Parts: sequence; C-alpha cells; structure tokens
Amino acid sequence: MRVLGIETSCDETAAAVVTRDEAGKPRILANTIASQFRLHAEFGGVVPELAARAHLTSLDRIIAAAMTEAELEWPQIDAVAVTAGPGLAGGLLVGLMTAKAIAASRDIPFLAINHLEGHALTARLTDGIDYPFLLLLVSGGHTQILTVRGLGRYERWATTIDDALGEAFDKTAKLLGLGHPGGAAVEHAAGSGDPVRFDLPRPLAGQATLNFSFSGLKTAARQLAHRLQPLREQDVADICAAFQACICDILADRCGRALERFSGEFTSGSPVLVVAGGVAANRAVRQVLQQLCDQSGARLVAPPLALCGDNAAMIAYAGLERLEAGFFDDLDVTARPRWPLDETAPAAIGSGKRGAKA
Ligand code: KG4
Ligand code: ZN
Repeated sequence: MRVLGIETSCDETAAAVVTRDEAGKPRILANTIASQFRLHAEFGGVVPELAARAHLTSLDRIIAAAMTEAELEWPQIDAVAVTAGPGLAGGLLVGLMTAKAIAASRDIPFLAINHLEGHALTARLTDGIDYPFLLLLVSGGHTQILTVRGLGRYERWATTIDDALGEAFDKTAKLLGLGHPGGAAVEHAAGSGDPVRFDLPRPLAGQATLNFSFSGLKTAARQLAHRLQPLREQDVADICAAFQACICDILADRCGRALERFSGEFTSGSPVLVVAGGVAANRAVRQVLQQLCDQSGARLVAPPLALCGDNAAMIAYAGLERLEAGFFDDLDVTARPRWPLDETAPAAIGSGKRGAKA
C-alpha cells in the first residue's frame, strides 16, 4: 500500500508518500514541504486568507515534487489521505478539494485525517512503538496530555486552559523582537542566557490538576521586558532562558504525574511517553523529558526534528494505519476547523482549536 498524504492546515504546504516495507516497517518514500514562513513574517502571525491562497498556488507543484521524489507514477498510489482539521478553514479546503479530486479521478480510497492524529502517530511511524502510550502534544495551537489506547482511541487527561505552548513561545518571541514563528528563536537565544537571573511564575503549580496555563507566564515575561527597557541582547537571552527553564519545570511536573497515573492504569511493561508537535523540536524540552523518563523507568520517544513540525508524512502514515484498519471516508467530508482528538472531553479554550495564531 502506498499512501499519498496532503497537509495544508496552517502555514506549510506539504505532500508525502508513505508505505510499509516487506518486514512491515513504515517507510517514507517522499516528504516535501513548502513553508509560508516568509509570507507571514512581516505580519507577526499567520494570515488565514494569505495562507489559503499560497496553498492553492503551490499544492499541485508540491504533490508533483513528492511523486518525483518517490519515483512513482499515479497508478502506484493506492490511497490519498488529507488533513481535514483542525486548522484554518481556507487552507483545509484547498487540501481537501485536491485530495478528493485525486481520489475521484483515480478511483482510490480517500481518508480525512485529524492533524493531531498525525502528530500523535508519528512515533509509530519513526519508532514502531505499540499502543497504549502516553502523549504530550505541544504545538502552536494545542497543549494536551492524552492516552493513546489504539487507533482513534484518545483520552484527554490535560489541556491548556488558555494559550497553547507554541503560542506562548511565539508571543514571548514577538515581545522580545525575535520575529515569528519564534519558538526556535527563543530556544536559540536561551542558549546564551542565564536561567536563574530572573524568576518567572509556574502557573497552576502545586494544584491537583494536570492542566496547563501559560498566559500568566507570558504576561510576567512581558512585564519583565518592559521593566528592563531598553533591552540589551543579554537581557533578551536571560528572559528566554528563564522562560524556557520555567516551561521545562512545568512539563516535567505534569508529565511526571501523568506517568504515575498511566503506570497505575496500564500495568503491563514500562510506560512510553511520546512528545509530539512543533515544540517537541525544543532540545531543552526533550532533555528534561528524557531525564524524567530515566528517573521514572519510562521510555521517551521524540520524533526526529524534521518530523516534529507540520509535515505530510505524518498524515500519510495516519492514513495508512486507517486504511489497514479498514477505514476510509466518503467524498462529502467537509473541513473541521475545530476537531478535538478526544471528542468526549469537555471543551476548553486550548483544547480543539488551531491556527489563527496572528
Ligand atoms: O506542530 P506545529 O508545526 O504547528 C501546529 O500544529 O501548530 O507547531 C508550531 C509551533 C510554533 O508555535 C513554533 O514556534 C513552535 O511550534 N516551535 C518551537 C520550536 N520549533 C517550533 N517551540 C519551541 N522551541 C522550538 N525549537
Ligand atoms: Zn501541527
């Protein structure tokens, strides 16, 4: 089975082809991506209308590039999988209409994929881990802890009650003049900063909840930056280092407690913690989670950096798993700008939205 994946939910236009080798191991045959990073940079965030137009302009070319990279002809593609949500409606529609056209004209199965499921299953694509596992999903629009019991079987244990973690990184970067998207820039600046010069708050610390809150932290960083005006390069680095250290403490605290609960509920074997989404590319975050897992006898699986951010290989792989499980979708599926992984969990501001980060 060779599945073509398409991703247009935010500001990356991406196409990929994924299959399994004879031993059953997933293989990425092509993974192409065109980032709209430059297009949105001057606006300090993703502009939905511009994003949709740019997807429309480049998607055909990106799909053709993926087919060339995979060295495949159309009759060799067995199914098409596309992100149907969550995300920006205009971009989702561009991907959906293109995928539907391919499925209809080739008469092959069509799969509407939840973008978050793509992130969630990346660790199965790269490391072949088994269900169940504990998932820390940290992206530009989401911050959640979920259990993944099987394909499509998600239980949300925690969510942010305000900003998503990637959003908090981006807003902090913006107020420090580091550009957008700013997560990687904050990480870079933090590298030459002193993490103990400033003490930033750890919202919800010491409370029973596993939930996250980042807006107070972001506000504290803003007030600190204001107080220090004019900011020197070292001040910026020190604020970034304090911010990142604070994030690491918060993640270690919540994931540590979630791992204890997970071990209690799933008794067989040592637990696996997967970190996924754009913020999973942060080395300090990976390091603190690795330490936590070493201490708690758990295994950390973090995707390679190139597969942490948005890509279509994860969408093609989720499509492959669904196809193998006998699922496919009708061509009347429409975009779902809000689409939580655990549909039974109560709605919370950070729990099912994505995009419109500007
Ligand atoms: O998963 P993703 O590519 O898109 C969404 O689904 O939202 O995540 C993008 C987010 C952005 O907020 C970006 O600033 C953040 O991931 N990010 C990082 C790093 N690289 C990307 N945050 C912290 N450190 C990084 N190295
Ligand atoms: Zn994403």
